[in-house]
Amino acid sequence: MRMYDLIMKKRNGGELSSEEITFLINGYVEGNIPDYQMSAFLMAVYFKGMTEGETLAMTNAVAHSGDMVDLAGIDGIKVDKHSTGGVGDKTTLIIAPIVAACGVKVAKMSGRGLGHTGGTIDKLESIPGMKTSLSREKFFQVVNETGLSVIGQSGNMTPADKKMYALRDVTATVDSIPLIAVSIMGKKLAAGNDCILLDVKTGSGAFMKTVEDSIALAKEMVAIGENAGKRTVALITDMDIPLGHNIGNSLEVIEAVDTLKGNGPDDLTQVCLNLAANMLYLAGKGNLDECMEMAKQAITDGTVLERLVAMVKAQGGDASVIEDTANFAKAPYSCEIPADKTGFITVMDTEKCGIASTLLGAGRETKDSEIDYTAGLILYRKVGDYVEAGEKIAVMYASDETLFANARSVYEDAITIQEEKPEEKPLIFARVTKDAVEKY
Ligand code: URA
Repeated sequence: MRMYDLIMKKRNGGELSSEEITFLINGYVEGNIPDYQMSAFLMAVYFKGMTEGETLAMTNAVAHSGDMVDLAGIDGIKVDKHSTGGVGDKTTLIIAPIVAACGVKVAKMSGRGLGHTGGTIDKLESIPGMKTSLSREKFFQVVNETGLSVIGQSGNMTPADKKMYALRDVTATVDSIPLIAVSIMGKKLAAGNDCILLDVKTGSGAFMKTVEDSIALAKEMVAIGENAGKRTVALITDMDIPLGHNIGNSLEVIEAVDTLKGNGPDDLTQVCLNLAANMLYLAGKGNLDECMEMAKQAITDGTVLERLVAMVKAQGGDASVIEDTANFAKAPYSCEIPADKTGFITVMDTEKCGIASTLLGAGRETKDSEIDYTAGLILYRKVGDYVEAGEKIAVMYASDETLFANARSVYEDAITIQEEKPEEKPLIFARVTKDAVEKY
C-alpha cells in the first residue's frame, strides 16, 4: 500500500477501505508517513468529505492509536460529556456534581483551552493545589469515593489525534465536519465511558457557525458513538452569546459555584440542567422529564456543592475557595467598560469576547503560554439588554494594566448596540439521537 495512491483516491472522490485508513493512521503515528503527505490527505478530505464507513474506520484507528482506558474498576454506568468548545463554557464544573449527586458516576477527561476557547482543566487548576493529573488507581479511587473526578487526558491517549490536530491547526483543515467528528469521538471512545452526551456549540463563538452544520456534526458523532455500542445523544446549544456572565478561569469557577447554589444566571442554569438531565437519561435514571426534576432537586437540596467540594479535596485542592469564593486570589487591576451609546445590545461577537479574555491573560496565545488564573471579564449586560450611554456593561480584570487597551478595543468591537430590541433566540436548538433530530 502506498500513501500516494490513498491521497489520489481521496482527491478523486473515492472511498478508502478500513484497511487503507488503518494503514495511513498507523503509518502517520509511527512516523512512516510524513507530515506533507498527511497534509495533502487532510486537504483532500476537507474538499471531498468522508463516507460514514470511512469516518467510523478512522475514529477507531485514532482511538486505538494509544491507550484505551478501561473504566471497569468504577462501579455502575459511567456517562461522559463533551463540549465542542466555547466562551464562558463552565458547564462541566456544574453538570458533573449534579449528575454525581443523582447517583451516576462521572469519570471525565477534559482538555485545556486554546485560542479563544476556555478549557475545564485550566479552570480547575485555578483552584490552589488542585491536581488534574492522577494515576489510574487514584482516579478510580476519587470517582468511587466522591462520585466524580475530572482530570486531563493521559499522555498516551490518542497520539494520532494529537499529531493530526497540530497539523490541521497549521494547514487550514480544522473546520471539516468529518475530521472534527473523528477527533472528538476518537478521544471519547478511548476514554472508556458507557454513554456519551455531546454538547455541540453553535454560533459566533463556536467552530460550527450555523445550526445546520452543528446538526450535521452532531449526527456524525452520534452515529460513531452508537456504532461503537455507546448510547450517544447530542444537544445543539447556543454559542452566539458567551454562556453566563464570567469569562476567565477562577471567575468561571466562582460562577459555577453560584450556579450550584441555585444563584446562577438563567442561561447557564438552563443549559446545565438540560445537559445534566440528558446525562441522567443516558444512564437510565428515567425519562427526560423525570431526569430534569432530579437535576433541579439536586440543586435545591444543596447536595451538589458537597460533591464539588469532595472532588476538589480528593484531588488535593484547597476547597476553602469553593466553600467561600471570596477566598480566591483577585486580579490586582480592573477596568470598567461603559456602553458607547443608548439602545439594545443586539450582537456580541463571541469569538472576539473570548479573544479579549485571552489578551487579558486568561488564555494561551501559544501552546506554551502561562495563563493568569485571575484574569478575565465579567459581563454585566448581554444581548437583549437595554443600556444607557455611559452605563457599565463589563469589567475586565488583569495582573498587568497595560493589557487593558488592546483587550478593551477587541471587546468594544464585539458589541453592537442598536435601537431595535433583538429577537430572542433559543438556548437549545435541537436534540440529536440515533433515530431523530428534534428541533426546538
Ligand atoms: N475539538 C476537538 O477535540 N477536535 C477538533 O477537531 C475540534 C474540536
